[in-house]
This record gives sequence, structure tokens and C-alpha cells, in this order.
Amino acid sequence: MQNKILLSEDEIPRQWYNLAADLPGTINPPLGQDGNPISPDMLAAVFPMNLIEQEVSQDRWIDIPEGVLDLLYRWRPSPLHRAFALEKALDTPAKIFYKNESVSPAGSHKPNTAVAQAWYNKEFGIKRLTTETGAGQWGSALSYSCALLGLECKVFMVRVSFDQKPFRKVLMQTWGGQCVPSPSMDTRVGREILEQMPDTPGSLGIAISEAIEAAVGDETGETRYSLGSVLNHVMLHQTIIGLEAKKQLKKAGIDKVDTVIGCAGGGSNFAGLAFPFTYDKINGADIEIIPVEPASCPTLTATPFSYDHGDVAKMTPMLPMHSLGHKFIPAPIHAGGLRYHGMAPLVSHAVEAGLMTPIAVKQLECYEAGLLFARTEGLLVAPETCHAVAGAVRSANQAKEEGKEKTIIFNLSGHGLMDLNGYEKFMAGELQNIALSAQDVEESRKISLEGHPTPKI
Ligand SMILES: Cc1ncc(COP(=O)(O)O)c(C=O)c1O
Repeated sequence: MQNKILLSEDEIPRQWYNLAADLPGTINPPLGQDGNPISPDMLAAVFPMNLIEQEVSQDRWIDIPEGVLDLLYRWRPSPLHRAFALEKALDTPAKIFYKNESVSPAGSHKPNTAVAQAWYNKEFGIKRLTTETGAGQWGSALSYSCALLGLECKVFMVRVSFDQKPFRKVLMQTWGGQCVPSPSMDTRVGREILEQMPDTPGSLGIAISEAIEAAVGDETGETRYSLGSVLNHVMLHQTIIGLEAKKQLKKAGIDKVDTVIGCAGGGSNFAGLAFPFTYDKINGADIEIIPVEPASCPTLTATPFSYDHGDVAKMTPMLPMHSLGHKFIPAPIHAGGLRYHGMAPLVSHAVEAGLMTPIAVKQLECYEAGLLFARTEGLLVAPETCHAVAGAVRSANQAKEEGKEKTIIFNLSGHGLMDLNGYEKFMAGELQNIALSAQDVEESRKISLEGHPTPKI
């Protein structure tokens, strides 16, 4: 059997898959400050209308425009690998596959939606995009995409990651993006937070507020905001991962997948791989689908389904999601991209509907898995991705205990070549496990969520 299974460019999927068309139950709409569902035009100052249409679409399949495909061809289709060396080290009867999204120019899955969002904004006549970034992967991806399309890009990067990963900023600048630490003095929200908490490590919730303020505050009307995860259209663009993977598994002679795994921050890389398999599960396939989140910022495993804002200043509508509360400030773990207080509404809904079984894993187990992966398969994965590897290792060990020959696939969401600082600390024994207690979760939700309605499916 082959080590890697490739697709040619003419085998690339030409439509994205929209899980909203197939989820059981009612899809809960976003709500405005008054508690009523918002209409698409209420989002028009923030996003271009062509993306808002995708956000609310219930169509199962959505055509990928030729202009977007032309951009995706630069690195797609991405390879599917069989992890023979990892299987051997674990002495497992399981077959382990991973979809390698680290081959994109920015080093992760994020450009899959960044090029699409930049393209749709350009089509709509927009000249400038603002955004937030946690680990820096999303900010790099959007800077890269804006460079391809001649758009300006401003990135608010969560302070702790800005300090932990200085080279991410250089990468964004190389592609012509502007990167500032968040909270910043550039926005009213940032200035207010700095006055109250001058030493705050920042959070994605704060950076999102700053980026939205910077977009809607541009009186020329030529700036919009772009989000790298959580929203329905972002999940949609990422489904190219799972759609390619299904074709590749077929080529490899695999007709039954047992377990699908991805790390989950806002949910996009996980959704990208998992949603096309969720479609099969809804249609009767027996598949275990596992989002892996950090024990220090657990949403799916620790919180009920609630309505909450996506950002600290409540600039976003209330979204139906598992949430620690929009004011939650996560511990400064190295997996910066997993430090978000909420989870994508579509992923949250699918978990509520019993289609997915989330797990939370502590930091040290994740780095151990990442190190084992580097020493067997050779690739040094991002700290976020280490969570998916840890999930795959657990699943392969379980297969060994049960003597089962199952097939596991996980998403290798990004490389860790800019995250060596975390690996260095782990190898020096300087990292600790940080887990949120039930009491911490309850207190955090109380501060942010009192009076919010509860979504029902
Ligand atoms: C490599 C990598 N994996 C995963 C994530 C988590 O985001 P999401 O849950 O949207 O895939 C990030 C976010 O920055 C990332 O950079």
C-alpha cells in the first residue's frame, strides 16, 4: 500500500458541502441585542453580501467559483498519508491516515477559507480586510490571500501569541499584512480594556471586537471584517478537506472509515474533515466522529448549548453555541488557536444531535503525542494539531486493547515550525497541565451568559 495518496488537479471537488442542509432538528438563527433573529442586511456593514448569502444558505451543495479554484490549485489537492511508522510504534492493528493541510503556503488549513473570503470580498468591491488571529496561522493565511488579490489586510493578534510567536508577525508583514498586538491602542475597545487590565494576555474575543470595530468604523465603506473560524461559511469552505479525503480513501481501497478526528478551537479544520463523513453518518454509516479540545478551554465537553456573543464587546450577534462566556480569558497555553470561548454553531448543533463525541485532552498528553509523531512520521505539527494526534493515539491504543482492525483518519491541520518555543518548553519539562474545573466553568458562564436565551433543536 502507498504511503501517500494523491489526487490530480482535475480531481479536486468542485462543490462545497453544507451540513446545515442535513442536520436534524431546527437550525437556530443568530439573534440581535433585542433577542430577535437578525436579518442578512443587518450583517452588511461587517461582511459582503455574497458571503452573508452563504452564511444563511440551506443548500446542500454550493459551487466553488473557478476564480477560487484557481487559487486553491496552488497547493490543493493536499496529500492523504498513511501513518505506517506511527502505527508500528504504537503496535496497533488500526490503520491510521492523516490529511496533510500543512502543505499550504501559510502552513495550515486556514488558507482554504482565506482565499475564498478574499475572493468574494474582492468581487463585492471591497479594498481592505480586518481580522483577528490567535496563534497567527489565520492572520498569515489572510495576509497571504490578500496579497494574491491585491487587498490590504490588518490583523489584531492576541497579545500572548504575539509575544510567544514573533516570527508569525514577520510572515504576515512579508505578505504585506499589518499585524498589531491585541488589545491595542488602535480601537476604542482596545484602549478601554488596556486601561482596566494593562497586563492582560488578550483573548480571541477581544481581538474580534477590535477587528470588527476597525472594519465598521471605516467611513469609505470599503473595509470588511473576515473571520477564520466559527461561522457557517467558514465551515463550508473547509469541507474541501473531507471531500478530497473521501476520494483518496476510495483510491486507497478503504471503503469503511471507523473514526474521524480533528482538533477543535472554533471548529473549522475539524468541520472541514468531519462534515462530509457526518453526511454519511446521518445517512446510516457507523462512524465515530471526535472533536478534540484542550482541557484548559473546553466548550463541547464542559458547557451546555447556549446563545452567546462571539466577542467581548458584544459586537457580533448572539450565536447558538457551546460557550464558556464571551468574557472568558483562557490560560496562556501554547495551542493559541484553541483558546476560543465558543464553538461553531454547526459543530455545536451536531454534538447536541448526538452525531459527534467530543473529548478534552490536557496539554502534556498532546505534546507527548506531537513528539511521538515527529519521531515516527517526521512532521512537526502545530500545538493545536497535537490535540488531534493525541486523539488518534488514544483511538489506536483502544483498537489494540480491543484487538480491532479499525480505520482512523485525522486532520493534520498545520505544521509547528513557528511553534518551537512550546516544544522547547515541553522538552525542558517547563509546561504544566492546566484544566478548567466545573466551578471555573460555572463562574465564567455566570459573568457572561445571564439572561441569554437557550437554543432548542
Ligand atoms: C494549525 C491550527 N489548527 C487548528 C486551529 C484551530 O482552529 P479551528 O478550530 O478553526 O480549526 C488553528 C487556529 O489557529 C490552527 O492554527
